[in-house]
Amino acid sequence: MEEKSEVTCEDGPACSGSVERTGKATSTVKSEITEQTRREVKTFAAQILKVLKSYVTQQDKDYEEWLGVKAEDRVTVSVEYPLYQQSQACYAVNTLIDKTAKVHKRTSYCGGERSAADYQDVEIKREVYQSLLVSGKIFFTWKKMKCIASVFFSGNYSEASFVHAKKHAKTSKKFQAELREFMCKHNYFKGEKLEFMPYSRIKFLSFPDLDWNSLILKKELKDEIALNLIFPLHNQKLCDKFNVPWRRGVLLAGVPGTGKTQLGRVLCNKLDGITVIWATCKSVQDVSRVRNLFEIARNFAPTLIVMEDLDFYGQDREFTTNPIVGELLNQLDGNAPNVGVFVLATTNRPYLLDKALADRPSRFDIKLVFGLPDVNERRAMINLFGKKKNIKPSVDYIARMSDKLTGAHIKEVINYAQLVSLNDGREEIQTKDIDLALRKVKTKLEAQRKNNLVR
Ligand SMILES: Nc1ncnc2c1ncn2[C@@H]1O[C@H](COP(=O)(O)OP(=O)(O)OP(=O)(O)O)[C@@H](O)[C@H]1O
Ligand SMILES: [Mg+2]
Repeated sequence: MEEKSEVTCEDGPACSGSVERTGKATSTVKSEITEQTRREVKTFAAQILKVLKSYVTQQDKDYEEWLGVKAEDRVTVSVEYPLYQQSQACYAVNTLIDKTAKVHKRTSYCGGERSAADYQDVEIKREVYQSLLVSGKIFFTWKKMKCIASVFFSGNYSEASFVHAKKHAKTSKKFQAELREFMCKHNYFKGEKLEFMPYSRIKFLSFPDLDWNSLILKKELKDEIALNLIFPLHNQKLCDKFNVPWRRGVLLAGVPGTGKTQLGRVLCNKLDGITVIWATCKSVQDVSRVRNLFEIARNFAPTLIVMEDLDFYGQDREFTTNPIVGELLNQLDGNAPNVGVFVLATTNRPYLLDKALADRPSRFDIKLVFGLPDVNERRAMINLFGKKKNIKPSVDYIARMSDKLTGAHIKEVINYAQLVSLNDGREEIQTKDIDLALRKVKTKLEAQRKNNLVR
């Protein structure tokens, strides 16, 4: 929940004088348009004022009629919610009032009878939708307190405000406390797998059918991941007893297509009951969103934050003045204790990362390098990607021929070979299809290497 802040123009009323400051040419245009537009603007402003006045008067009448007191004897309690709490707050306000109050009437946000209150199907749990009032007013009585809730949970803004008579201040405090408690209790994001979206929205995420076997990695790497993330996330008590901080940062570095993102997906399914919140460079675009991301992680802890492509926003301060780096340093190891907050970040350009971010334990405690697969891993990958396919050449042959290719490339070789065979009217993938696919993938890779697109 955020306190409201007022936006002011530094220039004050002088803002409107910007036309004068733009020089001669603008002044001529200004004098030409002045008389013609001034009248129109005046009329338009007068109309708006009239509408606003009538709206305010009508709203005031409605409020006075329901609350039984004049404007000066009323109090408004406003709560602004961050967008990631939008559906939760909307559900809480609607449900608490429905369950514990006596509802007199619901109107549109502007009041009056001309437009209806706005209901929408809101996802209140994974794949559970409920029709809720997202924009409108609820006139209700709660424990003898008459109150009007104005809710606006729509677009990029979330707010609920409650108007009541001053004499009900105590009851109003109780109501707000119950509302907060309700929201905590019905925290249906806790333990869920979530995507952190642009503007700090969140939505449910799922990766069906992926398990530990969907990831082909060296045993040592899998063991490190289990030791640094899976084990501590499930063992808070042990960590506390032996004074091991219950938080950890793991940085994954490696060339594109080696399975870093795949690991994040697999962990979503492996970490039962643990919140996973998945952030990309698109969603972490400014300082406030970084703050929101960690706020969610702390609220829904134990949490694993997956930060994809960290080099996009965590670049060394020598190369950029990006304030996101500063906020990241602060959120990862600042004053907030981050109990139960684990971070898994991925990059394929670790050399670009800020030193204080990447090279210091307690922000990222351990760095794991995802390299190219060896022959055994390539064999396992061919078996994995070749499922449901009829491949004639031996796994050994393809594994030998795909030296220096990443997992993503091997997957492409097999899929390309299958398309070639199907296009040829055959279900079976033959050696010539594999050879053709290998040639295609390797030629493309070679060209990229020459142009320095791949290291
Ligand atoms: N080690 C692996 N085990 C299983 N599948 C893999 C592996 N590496 C790559 N793949 C396959 O290749 C696809 C691409 O891999 P992934 O997205 O995980 O690469 P990445 O390392 O995250 O690359 P980038 O650095 O470009 O983001 C995956 O969806 C997966 O199917
Ligand atoms: Mg990736």
